[in-house]
Amino acid sequence: MAILDTYDVIIIGAGAAGLMCAIEAGKRGRKVMLFDHAKKPAEKIRISGGGRCNFTNLNIRPEAYLSNNSHFFKSALKQYTQHDFIALVEAYKIPYHEKTLGQLFCDTSAKDIINMLLNEAETAGVELYLETKALSISHQDNKYTVETTRGTTHAASLVIATGGPSIPKMGASGYAYDVARQFNLNIIEPYAALVPLTFEGEMLEYCKSLAGVAVPSIAKFKKQEFHEAMLFTHRGLSGPSVLQISSYWDHKSPITFNMAPDMDVYHHLITAKAQNPKANLVTVLSQILPKRLAEKICTMEHVSGNIADAKDSTLKSIADNIQNWCITPDGTEGYRTAEVTLGGIDTDELSSKTMETKKHKCLFFIGECVDVTGHLGGYNFQWAWSSGYVAGQNV
Ligand code: FDA
Repeated sequence: MAILDTYDVIIIGAGAAGLMCAIEAGKRGRKVMLFDHAKKPAEKIRISGGGRCNFTNLNIRPEAYLSNNSHFFKSALKQYTQHDFIALVEAYKIPYHEKTLGQLFCDTSAKDIINMLLNEAETAGVELYLETKALSISHQDNKYTVETTRGTTHAASLVIATGGPSIPKMGASGYAYDVARQFNLNIIEPYAALVPLTFEGEMLEYCKSLAGVAVPSIAKFKKQEFHEAMLFTHRGLSGPSVLQISSYWDHKSPITFNMAPDMDVYHHLITAKAQNPKANLVTVLSQILPKRLAEKICTMEHVSGNIADAKDSTLKSIADNIQNWCITPDGTEGYRTAEVTLGGIDTDELSSKTMETKKHKCLFFIGECVDVTGHLGGYNFQWAWSSGYVAGQNV
């Protein structure tokens, strides 16, 4: 398909937000060009949710989003809700299920969601160009001119939907920030978020020795806490509760973990000591924790043998290590493995009702490139659908 000279709308980035915006604009009869520098569209949808795409959450709520402006995202999420997206999924008869905590996943494959979006885009007359790079953007006489590797094209409206820089090897880029800078828009400093935490020295060795061990946990940082699983890795800590808390961590203060969230460990140990003094301490701890972790904690506390031989103060210290484990990570795995990017285009620059920039008419930013970041669990895709939908009604 040859690139045309003039469109109503040019959308850069054929990911979740760009596709949704293109579909909605196309449905309104707008002539839409959607392009992406990658070979395939929506690569992040394909790999999301372990290949099954956690496409939304039944419990979409403002508290599950981070932004400098904690009200900004409400309008878009209200204009296009999780139920609207679920209705689309159901119209395509895509089998899905709730995994946990309201998280909706495809039964079969994330490709079902991609095929649905591509089919909707085709029906809406969207022209999709892959392996197409933007070389430059300019604005003159109420028209945006985009020079691409396929030629020069113009449109009244321009939408930037190029996501954030997380997972660069999937085609992710900071391109949206370059465009924002060109148009003199403020950017809230971006950070890797929903990302594993890393350690150095002794703590790294500790985590390495437990790599592969998972426990239910409460991860706590300041007022924020998450009750989900955590996982020891060769680099540090991962798992849902760790990814969630990483979005709130200030990169310097300690995070607290409770690795036995549903009980009072000290009470359990003291009771065991009174009732069954000859019981092996590791065996007693293994009733609460995976055996490898139980053994490691006893080694760290220099205790072994019968529980009766351990002082109450030692049992208290063990209980604290399990329920009030306070550690300061050395860093995160960064954009290489981060699921999302915190920060981005300052929401003060955008209309929350339309996603249009306040300074430049008909220039829109949507999806992950905007300073709105969801918790793990389908919240980020819902932001992409909602912000894409809203822009699609206004381009
Ligand atoms: P997205 O990144 O999807 O799309 C941007 C598009 O722009 C890409 O196609 C890219 O190639 C293109 N692009 C970038 N720079 C460009 C340039 N200069 N020129 C042209 N094109 C350019 N969320 C969730 O809710 N549930 C989940 O299950 C998961 N799972 C998950 C797993 C993994 C491994 C990752 C990395 C992320 C998730 N996420 C998630 C997060 C989710 O993928 C993310 O929030 C959305 O994809 C964001 O949608 P966008 O459309 O904004 O960006």
